[in-house]
Amino acid sequence: MPTFRTSQPVSAADPSRPHLVLVGISGAGKSTIGRRAADRLGRPFLDFDLEIERRESQTIAEIFAERGEPMFRRLERELTAEVAEMGGMILAPGGGWIVDEEGVALLRARSTIVWLKVRPETALKRLRGDVTNRPLLNRPDPLAELSKLLAQREALYARADHLINTEIVTLDQAVDRIVALATEAGGA
Ligand code: S3P
Repeated sequence: MPTFRTSQPVSAADPSRPHLVLVGISGAGKSTIGRRAADRLGRPFLDFDLEIERRESQTIAEIFAERGEPMFRRLERELTAEVAEMGGMILAPGGGWIVDEEGVALLRARSTIVWLKVRPETALKRLRGDVTNRPLLNRPDPLAELSKLLAQREALYARADHLINTEIVTLDQAVDRIVALATEAGGA
């Protein structure tokens, strides 16, 4: 049985319920919203990047620099395969997870996927311009990089089951919506 460092113990997850997966570009609010919703629901929250860093004892920036992006994607896929055996968690994979269609397929049937939509300008403000541990953005023009990634991925994010436009809802409203979706999807 793999171990995870989650906000609530993994044993709090009911495997018969679907996972709720938050997707969207960096700065969309996946971790902030996911953690708060999970606390309200009493379900475990798993931030994929933090979990990968913990397991590898390396930061995301180090993994990309020393082992390359394909290795990071492999670690992401491995984690996906592990959680696909479980259920009832709130999951926040990194922004590029959606590109791995086989990885997404592992979770799809047993998950509710929610796209946290945001404009790149707003996303970068939320990150307070701190892109040091986001290797794909840590370049001379992070806004251009984020815009490019969104353009490449938008059609994939749009396949999510639900969309929350975080430009027009408050943080609390977004959390309320996730709590409601997770409760509906779980058959309360
Ligand atoms: C990535 C997003 C990051 C992290 C890695 C790659 C991406 O996660 O997984 O830097 O490809 O967009 P966040 O979305 O949490 O920033």
